[in-house]
Amino acid sequence: MLFAVGVVAFLALALPAACAPTTESERPGVSGSFPPPGDATYDYVVVGGGTAGLAIASRLAASGCSVSVVEAGGFYETDSGNISTVPGFAFSNPVLAPVEFFPPIPHLDWELLSEAQPGAQNRKVHYAAGKTLGGSSAINTMCYHRPTKQTFQRWAQAVGHASYTWASMLPFFLKSATLTPPNWLKRQAPNATITYDQTVFGAGPLQVSYANWADPTNSWFAVALQAIGLAQSPIGFNSGVLSGGAYTTETISPQAVRSSSESSYLAKALVLTQLKVYNRTLAAKILFTGTAATGVSVSTNGISYTLTARKEVILSAGTFHSPQLLMLSGIGPQAKLQSLGIPINSNLPGVGQNLQDPIFFSVQSGVKTPSLASELADPARQAAILEQYTSNRAGPLSSAGGYIAFEKLPAASRLGFSARTTSLLASLPADVPEIEYLAGSFPGTSNGVTTVGDLSAAILNPFSRGSVTISSASIADKPVIDMGWLTDPADAEVAVAAFKRLRQAWSAPAISPVKVGDEVTPGASVQTDAQILAYVKQNAIQIWHASATNSMGISPAAGAVVDWRAKVFGVSRLRVVDASVLPFALPGHPQATIYALAEKIAASILAGV
Ligand SMILES: Cc1cc2nc3c(=O)[nH]c(=O)nc-3n(C[C@H](O)[C@H](O)[C@H](O)COP(=O)(O)OP(=O)(O)OC[C@H]3O[C@@H](n4cnc5c(N)ncnc54)[C@H](O)[C@@H]3O)c2cc1C
Ligand SMILES: *[C@@H]1O[C@H](CO)[C@@H](O)[C@H](O)[C@H]1NC(C)=O
Ligand SMILES: *[C@@H]1O[C@H](CO)[C@@H](O)[C@H](O)[C@H]1NC(C)=O
Ligand SMILES: *[C@@H]1O[C@H](CO)[C@@H](O)[C@H](O)[C@H]1NC(C)=O
Repeated sequence: MLFAVGVVAFLALALPAACAPTTESERPGVSGSFPPPGDATYDYVVVGGGTAGLAIASRLAASGCSVSVVEAGGFYETDSGNISTVPGFAFSNPVLAPVEFFPPIPHLDWELLSEAQPGAQNRKVHYAAGKTLGGSSAINTMCYHRPTKQTFQRWAQAVGHASYTWASMLPFFLKSATLTPPNWLKRQAPNATITYDQTVFGAGPLQVSYANWADPTNSWFAVALQAIGLAQSPIGFNSGVLSGGAYTTETISPQAVRSSSESSYLAKALVLTQLKVYNRTLAAKILFTGTAATGVSVSTNGISYTLTARKEVILSAGTFHSPQLLMLSGIGPQAKLQSLGIPINSNLPGVGQNLQDPIFFSVQSGVKTPSLASELADPARQAAILEQYTSNRAGPLSSAGGYIAFEKLPAASRLGFSARTTSLLASLPADVPEIEYLAGSFPGTSNGVTTVGDLSAAILNPFSRGSVTISSASIADKPVIDMGWLTDPADAEVAVAAFKRLRQAWSAPAISPVKVGDEVTPGASVQTDAQILAYVKQNAIQIWHASATNSMGISPAAGAVVDWRAKVFGVSRLRVVDASVLPFALPGHPQATIYALAEKIAASILAGV
């Protein structure tokens, strides 16, 4: 049954597009792409010019549909300069501070602060979310890879539609991104070999490549991880297998600058299509006639107006703001909406629920190799590094790090798991890894410590659940965010086991030639499981992949918010396409899949599905 439906959908994709292609003379050029505030009508109004929003808007516009995008932010290249464009600055961007008292960066970030996390020492953390064209693809740390084949089988099952299998999704991955092979001359790193599979890339707008510099500390982390069983992957992480380690692909252009949905999809659309962009424009709510979405109420510089959608409204405001906008528009848990006096358009208990947020934590020791962090922090190296980057697009500034590894914990690490944890983990597909390891670094200290090596572990499939809700009926109030960190004891057990794997890697003889001194963090005082868990609760942070707050699924009563076509249950002419509709946390980093999902739903809309 599942597969029969999928075949029908696949054939439907081949039907002619619903909109007429734009002719050369109809194109307005870039200058005509930014309409002044005021009521206007389009076929499609896309809310949120972020990762998914610009991809889907560009595809619809390229087919000749009349499309507008509403985005609260502006152009990050102009607003934030090279902190947002130079790969080497990705990790030092102050927007990343996951702490309660964080630096405000209004032109790049929504400045969200979570609720206190009872499972994590009641910490409140800043949760960055891009407020700019490009959205979070303009502030993320550029790691690009894809989930496993069985992840997509699980997705297809969760939503009752075979168009989410790996084989059916691969064309959309191919359509979204172009891979530039590693530049061996610039990398100059025979011991940091890259293995990859060119056949899983097509010729899409997003630019994906490898750093033009190999971090000399990362190659030691690679051997340490190999020593504990994580062999180097022969094909890398874009072919549906996540096992062992690899230098990851990154969203970096051949010119060694960040490739975001803005610099890729939007830049093309501004030249080739009639896409209209309402930048620095806040969407306040979706408007309905009966249960049909008819447009969006927006404001620019204090001027309020309506953008009417002849065909559909597409909501792509991200994991936190899409559920917020749905609730403000009368779609969500009935009791909550009633308590705030919001009239109900669709009683959907799942809106804002099911938030899944993978956390990570690290073990640090001194090493005597240079690293991305030590290079950038060394005043004596800065002129040379800048010259390397500006004249040759190489060196540390061309890199956003990049050695990662995946595994299911080995048998010896699982001995202490409760029966419940064992059975929860057994419910995940066989090829879905439980842990991701990430190689990182901080500037060195003294006494021969060039770099503080940072090896971290992320729990990929959290069983804890958080939520997003609203505190008023107004867009002026921020969404209320609870990540639910470590509220399920299974996550705590997995975290303790993963922490011990980090120490195993650090104590591998293979890394001893560069290791200096004793463990820096957390240090020898943390030994028992209780001490390890206390350290994790105090120090774990988000890996910035929160998702699933408007889960795609089959049954609204069971918490689903959208169906397999990304259509919102209970209303018509409204889809949600962004990280909020993922049915569950994907293993690893989600951006590749969010682009592919946007491509898939765009194709579906154009095919009239
Ligand atoms: C700091 C950080 C690092 C990350 N690192 C990685 C990584 O290395 N690799 C990876 O794969 N993933 C990474 N991610 C995750 C990934 O970037 C996100 O999951 C993805 O970009 C989300 O895409 P989206 O389309 O759901 O939302 P977004 O890209 O965030 O887009 C939402 C857009 O909607 C706009 N918007 C919201 N509300 C309104 C409103 N009311 N009116 C108008 N506009 C509105 C926002 O301004 C934004 O532009 C990272 C994320 C962050 C935050
Ligand atoms: C970034 O911008 C600053 C300020 O304009 C400039 O001094 C610096 O050289 C730039 N760095 C790079 C890598 O472009
Ligand atoms: C790899 O080579 C670089 C550059 O010569 C060196 O700095 C680094 O220590 C080497 N790492 C390993 C694991 O051999
Ligand atoms: C949107 O961006 C364009 C192009 O940079 C700019 O001309 C326009 O002023 C911006 N709109 C607003 C409301 O800031």
